[in-house]
Amino acid sequence: MASEQDVRARLQRAGQEHLLRFCAELAPGPRAALLAELEPLEPEALREHCQRAAAACAGPPGPPPDLAERLQPLPPERVGSVSRSDPETRRLWEEEGFHQIALNKVAVLLLAGGQGTRLGVTYPKGMYQVGLPSQKTLYQLQAERIRRVEQLAGERHGTHCTVPWYIMTSEFTLGPTATFFKEHDFFHLDPDNVVMFEQRMLPAVAFDGRAILERKDKVAMAPDGNGGLYCALADHQILEDMGRRGVEFVHVYCVDNILARLADPAFIGFCVLQGADCGAKVVEKAYPEEPVGVVCQVDGVPQVVEYSEISPEVASLRGPDGVLLYNAGNICNHFFTRSFLQVVTREFEPLLKPHVAVKKVPYVDEEGNLVKPLKPNGIKMEKFVFDVFQFAENFVAFEVPREEEFAPLKNADSADRDNPTMARRALLTQHYRWARQAGACFVDACGARLPELLRVHTPEQILTSGPALSLSGSEEPPAVCEISPLVSYSGEGLEVYLQGREFQSPLILDENGVRELQS
Ligand code: UD1
Repeated sequence: MASEQDVRARLQRAGQEHLLRFCAELAPGPRAALLAELEPLEPEALREHCQRAAAACAGPPGPPPDLAERLQPLPPERVGSVSRSDPETRRLWEEEGFHQIALNKVAVLLLAGGQGTRLGVTYPKGMYQVGLPSQKTLYQLQAERIRRVEQLAGERHGTHCTVPWYIMTSEFTLGPTATFFKEHDFFHLDPDNVVMFEQRMLPAVAFDGRAILERKDKVAMAPDGNGGLYCALADHQILEDMGRRGVEFVHVYCVDNILARLADPAFIGFCVLQGADCGAKVVEKAYPEEPVGVVCQVDGVPQVVEYSEISPEVASLRGPDGVLLYNAGNICNHFFTRSFLQVVTREFEPLLKPHVAVKKVPYVDEEGNLVKPLKPNGIKMEKFVFDVFQFAENFVAFEVPREEEFAPLKNADSADRDNPTMARRALLTQHYRWARQAGACFVDACGARLPELLRVHTPEQILTSGPALSLSGSEEPPAVCEISPLVSYSGEGLEVYLQGREFQSPLILDENGVRELQS
C-alpha cells in the first residue's frame, strides 16, 4: 500500500491535495481507508476529470441550441416492430433467437451499479420486491426468466443450454448483491454462470473544480454511470470470459424493469437476422415529458438523446399523423455483438463524452463540520451505456408493446408513476391477460364472473385523466393471478393448467401447479 507521502504527491499533481487536509487528525483505521480510496486515482485522469467537470458546468445549461436541427427520427428500415409485423415474421425472429441460445451463444448482462436514489432504499434495487403474492424480488424474477428461456431453447433443440448472467455492480451494490445471491442459492442457477464484476467510481466535484470530501476520511464518490460498463468489461476481462464460453451476442438490460425479457429470443433473433452489431429495444413514448431517452439520429448517426437533455419543445414535436416525432422511447435493453464490444473497449471508450449531473452532495467544510447543502453544489460525471450506438456499423431498433415489456421501478410510492404499485400491477395485469388468453375464467368471492377484458382507454380519456393512464400498471387488474417465470416466459404453455377452468382470485401458478390463496 502507498504511503501518505506518495498519495500526497500524486494529489498535488492532480491539484487535489485538499483531500488530505484532515489526514493528520484521523485515527489509523480511517486514515488507511482514506489513503486506500485515493491510491487508485491516477493523477492525470483525476486532474482532467475535475477540470472537465468544472468546465462542463461553467458552460450554458440545457441542450445545445441547434440540437433540434440536427435530430431526425430513425429511418423506418432500421426499425423492427412486434405489433406491425405478421405472425410468421415474428415466428422466424423467435426461432433464430432460440437457435442462438441453444448454441450457447447468448449472454445477458445486467447493469446493477446504480444507487437507486429515487426509489430511496439503502440496498440494491434488484433486491426490492414490489408486493407480489409470491414476494419475489426483481433479481429472482430475472433469474427465473433465464432458467425458463434456457429450458425453452433446450426443448426446441434437444440440447442443454446455458445463458450466462453477467452482473455489473458498483462499490455500493457488489457486497449486498453477492451476499443476497448466496443466501438464495443463486436462485438455482449454477454459480459458475453468474459473473459479478465492479464498475469504477469517480469523485464528485465542486463548481471550483475541487473534488468533494463527504467526511474527513471519505471522498464523495459515485459510480461512473452505466456507460462505465466498457471500462469495467476491460478491467475484469469479461469479454475474454465470454469468448471462452463461446458467447457471441449480449443482451444488456437495466435492473428496474419488472417486465424485462432476458435474452428475449425475438429481439436476439431480429438483431441477428438483420446482421446488426448493436440494437435497442424501444416502446412508443406515452407522453412528451416521459422520462425515457429517445432513440433517434443526430447528424445522421444513431444515438439516444436522454430525457434530461432534450428540450420540452423538441420532445413535443409531432409528425403529420399527430404521433410524437421522437417517439422511440429507450427502455435500456440493448443488443451487442461481442466483437462490437471488443472494438468499443479497445478503441472507442475514450471517445465517450461524460454527461454532467448537478446534485446536492453532502460535504465537510473547512472546519470539518458536516454540511447537508440545500442547493446543488456538486457535479457528478457519468458515461451512458447507449453512447456507443454512434460507433455501430449496423444499428437497429426493435419496438415492443409497452404493456408486455416495460414497467420501470424508479420511484417510491409517494411519486405518481414508475413506482412499486405500478410495477406490481403491470406484472399482474400481464399475467391476468395471459391467463385469459389461455382460457381461464375468474370469479369473485360471491362467484360472479370477473370481466373478460381489461378496460381500453380512449385517447379522450387519456387526455382528460392525464398521460399516466397510458402507462403500464396505471390500474389494478380485475383479478390477482401471478404466474411464475419458471412456468411461462411470455405467455406460452399455460393452457394445460388453465384452459376452461374457473378460479378465485388471488391465485399463484408456479412449478408446483395452481394454488388459490383463499382456500
Ligand atoms: C435509463 C436510460 C434512459 C431510459 C430509462 C428507461 C441510461 C443512461 N438512461 O434512465 O434512456 O429511457 O433507463 O427506464 O441508460 N446503472 C449502473 N451504473 C451507474 C448508473 C446506473 O449500473 O453508474 C444502472 C442502474 O442500476 C440501472 C440502469 O443503469 O439498472 C439505468 O440507470 P438509471 O440511472 O436508473 O437510468 P434512468 O435515468 O432511469
